[in-house]
Amino acid sequence: MAAKRRSSRAPRSGALRRVLVLHGPNLNLVGIREPGLYGHATLAEIDTRLRELAGELGVTVDSFQSNSEGALIDRIQAARGLVDAIVINAGAYTHTSVAIRDALLTTELPVVEVHLSNIHKRETFRHHSLVADIAVGQIAGFGPDSYLLGLRAAASLLRARK
Ligand code: DQA
Repeated sequence: MAAKRRSSRAPRSGALRRVLVLHGPNLNLVGIREPGLYGHATLAEIDTRLRELAGELGVTVDSFQSNSEGALIDRIQAARGLVDAIVINAGAYTHTSVAIRDALLTTELPVVEVHLSNIHKRETFRHHSLVADIAVGQIAGFGPDSYLLGLRAAASLLRARK
């Protein structure tokens, strides 16, 4: 009988789990953009806090921001088999992008959806997320802490899968 091959997407024992954090369009401007809604922290500050927390949680974090749907999809595709979970704030693409949803599905990775603002308290067009039903869960409304809570959720999911 042929030896059982470990799936390339199975957790690598002993190795640090890798979490990809994706920031969608206009999130490069957080800190400047509508601070009443999105807070005063810049994206660089959020990414620094994520890296610090990753160290405490024993995972690694790679962050990527793009205003372009195609670039986000390319980054998601490149993550297949190379990361263990994805935390995503797809920005406005949350509400419109079937293509980002399809790319996330292709990875077969656990996805945590995050938003700085509580999208459910805002305009009705923001209430629907094309990511929500393929994500393990959604965290929204805690400002930059949404990302940190999202990373905690991802790390805890990965610990549970060990
Ligand atoms: C957002 C909410 C989206 O509706 C909006 O288009 C964004 C930011 C948030 O983090 O609250 O760009 O994703």
